Amino acid sequence: MPPPLGHDDSCLLTPLIPATPPLPPRATARLHPLPLLVGALFATYYHLLVAPAPSYYQSLFLSLGSNDTAAAHLRALTVRPHLAGTEANALAAEHVVSTLSSLSFPTRVTPYEVLLSYPVRRSLSLSAPGRDATAFALVQDTYPGDPYAAASAEVVPTFLAYAASGSAAAEVVYANYGRTEDYAYLASRGVNVTGKVALARYGKVYRGDIVKNARDAGAAAAVIFTDTKDYTPGKAFPDGPWMPATGVQVGSTFKGVGDPTTPMWASSGGCERVSIAEAMATDDMPGIPALPVSGRDGEEILRLIGGDVAPEDWQGGEGAPVYRLGPGPAVLNLTYTGNETIATIQNVISVIEGKEEPDRYVILGNHRDAWTFGAADPNSGTAALLELAERLSKLQTKGWRPRRTIILCNWDAEEYGLIGSTEWVEENRAMLTSRTVAYLNVDVGVSGSGVDASATPQLDELLKQASKKIGRLGGGGSDYSAFVQHIGIPSVDMAIGSGYAVYHSLYDDFTWMEKYGDPMFRRHVVVASIWGLVALRLSDEEILPFNYSSYVQELENGAVDINKRVLGMPVNLSPLHKSIEQLNRAVLKVDSELQALQTWKFWSPSQNDPLRVRDLNDRLMMTERAFTEREGLSGRPWYKHMIYGPSLYNDYGAEVYPGVDDAIQTAKKANTTESWQSVQHEIHRIARVISQAALVLSGGLT
Ligand SMILES: *[C@@H]1O[C@H](CO)[C@@H](O)[C@H](O)[C@H]1NC(C)=O
Ligand SMILES: *[C@@H]1O[C@H](CO)[C@@H](O)[C@H](O)[C@H]1NC(C)=O
Ligand SMILES: *[C@@H]1O[C@H](CO)[C@@H](O)[C@H](O)[C@H]1NC(C)=O
Ligand SMILES: *[C@@H]1O[C@H](CO)[C@@H](O)[C@H](O)[C@H]1NC(C)=O
Repeated sequence: MPPPLGHDDSCLLTPLIPATPPLPPRATARLHPLPLLVGALFATYYHLLVAPAPSYYQSLFLSLGSNDTAAAHLRALTVRPHLAGTEANALAAEHVVSTLSSLSFPTRVTPYEVLLSYPVRRSLSLSAPGRDATAFALVQDTYPGDPYAAASAEVVPTFLAYAASGSAAAEVVYANYGRTEDYAYLASRGVNVTGKVALARYGKVYRGDIVKNARDAGAAAAVIFTDTKDYTPGKAFPDGPWMPATGVQVGSTFKGVGDPTTPMWASSGGCERVSIAEAMATDDMPGIPALPVSGRDGEEILRLIGGDVAPEDWQGGEGAPVYRLGPGPAVLNLTYTGNETIATIQNVISVIEGKEEPDRYVILGNHRDAWTFGAADPNSGTAALLELAERLSKLQTKGWRPRRTIILCNWDAEEYGLIGSTEWVEENRAMLTSRTVAYLNVDVGVSGSGVDASATPQLDELLKQASKKIGRLGGGGSDYSAFVQHIGIPSVDMAIGSGYAVYHSLYDDFTWMEKYGDPMFRRHVVVASIWGLVALRLSDEEILPFNYSSYVQELENGAVDINKRVLGMPVNLSPLHKSIEQLNRAVLKVDSELQALQTWKFWSPSQNDPLRVRDLNDRLMMTERAFTEREGLSGRPWYKHMIYGPSLYNDYGAEVYPGVDDAIQTAKKANTTESWQSVQHEIHRIARVISQAALVLSGGLT
């Protein structure tokens, strides 16, 4: 989960709280058909009179929220740190299984054997000419009275998963946020990074990109620190919500998706596998030793870096030393030994079977594994999932059965590289692509205030009640990735809050959540309410609440953006414009079909023709699939979605038309005829998938 800091208070939560108590059900018991009503007529109206409308159960669902239930689950899930592959995380899985089973939802564990990474030995010492080497403790301090002090002994030592084992002792270069543009600036100032230790700060790009960029610039090792300016602008935990001086953000540096030893296929027992050595040697791995350090350690290193003063926007906050570029005279000696080992992970899968369309799936997912205690990331989401499940169980006692099947998933090893969800999607790819209506993800459920939602655009209308601002699911930040980017399933990712300072540190515990994240656990209830409401609408409404006109708008916005970037270049956008127009016509056709169905309903209120409804729903469901292409993005074949994908330079960044973006970036550097021809090629590719989507949506052949 990406850690953008800052708050988004632009969205109101109030529309989610039911304004009026739910209407009473149209109870079966009080149904007294008129004596004149003949059987056939009765049958026509029976459905309407007896079964409460989906909106009744939606209101009831909203009225059943319980902050105490959410808090109790969060406390139980976060008593111990529970890193993927550990016994503590298997126990957390048991909590999820027993909760869902006790609600009578058939629940199972789906295990996989995957490559995880643990630290074995680490050391980091700082020296400079005329100054003795001092070794950093590399420990996050507990505080007096910390109820989790004893359990914190189980927290994994600070490390970067999949960093190469090895050592480097060299002068330090300061690289700001470690982006490609930061290294370009260093080169322009004549600072040679080759063979040096790069020191970068967290905050703008995925940490795997920070290490990769350091490696690509020639660095022998990378160190990433948490700058006080960005993570501790106020009182530090436990006196405030911000990152303590010794706090360290740990995390993965793998840039790929899923188990590195089973690219493209599932890691089920006895499966084919590439060797660990081969998996560690790919370009998606960091390839150099690297360590994360605290704000305090980062400043100590920066105090000893000389050379030119870094630009204003590279500087730290008040009280920080003047940041200089280096290299040296500070020397860092970093040693790291990791253990890359095959471990067992557990996804928990729970199924609430649909009554009318059991072969259509609405999937809700959240991960369970955490770097430390995981109170915000991810178990605020897990607590919301379990609280939501308890509400669904209460709906069942009131006679509710979903029209379509609802599947609750609790993923494992997300933190290492979205592994649990990806293996499951890869294993079930053919079933999921033919049957899944939508995937609804919640990772960090609560970390602050303000609803933060991203979606594929046909779900915009549905989410508008919940969130005014809807981003796009292009980035690789969480478990929606395999669903959208690998197999093209309409998806949503939502949260309350959009970033928090103690992310991936020792301090992401129940105390932090109770004091600062969500003191009354009402935000947990709100996130469960949005999540469940969207799920209920998708599972229960006769016609899927998808609206592709937002998609057309988004595709057009993307085309305008490309147009600006290729101005004056030999690139023709008319195939793209034509395909978008084609999709627009399909949207209008669907609109008129919907109107026709409603007219039909007016004359015969019992039911629409189920086959017509099914046909329309299937087209609405399958249109997103058509945006995927078998070969995938150029050079990134796992990413099959041609419209949304992560930026090549920041795994957390979302791109519209990622293939075109990659090609434009390359062409702008190379500026050759061939490089602009590949931009044109990528434009043809996206135009082709948009035309396919238009055909699926309109249900026509050429
Ligand atoms: C950077 O340093 C390396 C090793 O010292 C050297 O091989 C390389 O040519 C240098 N690069 C530049 C641009 O000076
Ligand atoms: C770097 O640190 C390691 C571990 O403490 C030590 O064995 C090694 O000698 C040091 N290297 C240098 C060049 O100081
Ligand atoms: C690596 O992990 C495996 C599995 O937990 C363990 O058996 C092995 O001893 C570990 N190796 C090292 C060097 O710690
Ligand atoms: C739940 O909310 C009520 C107020 O509505 C509050 O009294 C109670 O303490 C909350 N529970 C938790 C666990 O915060």
